[in-house]
Amino acid sequence: MALERTLTIIKPDAVASDFTGKILAMIEDAGLHIIAAKMLHLSSQKTDELYAEHKERSFYPALKEFMVSGPVMVLALEGEDAVTTLRNIMGATVPKEAEVGTIRNLYAEHEFVGGVLENAIHGSDSVESAKKEIDFFFKADEICPRTR
Ligand code: RTP
Ligand code: MG
Repeated sequence: MALERTLTIIKPDAVASDFTGKILAMIEDAGLHIIAAKMLHLSSQKTDELYAEHKERSFYPALKEFMVSGPVMVLALEGEDAVTTLRNIMGATVPKEAEVGTIRNLYAEHEFVGGVLENAIHGSDSVESAKKEIDFFFKADEICPRTR
């Protein structure tokens, strides 16, 4: 077990459906502490930077349109094995394949919407990506580790 940080984004579909609170409760119930949070509306440029690894993929235009379609909530989380803990409660990328009781199983659309999987939540895929993504969204003085 290792104390790690990870980044999550409650995506536009889940924010629009007012599932934010339910998803945050699942995150906290999994033992992850919120150490930074903000609501924002992603720009096209910021989405390109965030999902640079997917820019050449055929689904990227639809993914970008989805990510800029409404506000998101971005959070930095801290806890034991935070990267894997978050990915486990998110469930699989394809919501209809996500294990019962996971966030994507409960709160995401199970069919494609306009060529993209509207799957409710993003989670960093490694400790290295987490560090990059936290730095991408938060300044050092916006991170608030627990003091009690
Ligand atoms: P994320 O980065 O958002 O946490 O999702 P992930 O790791 O589970 O999946 P990833 O492969 O990184 O894909 C990023 C997002 O692109 C959309 N996607 N659509 N049409 C498709 O086949 C397809 N594949 C991926 C999803 O919104 C996915 O979360
Ligand atoms: Mg990913």
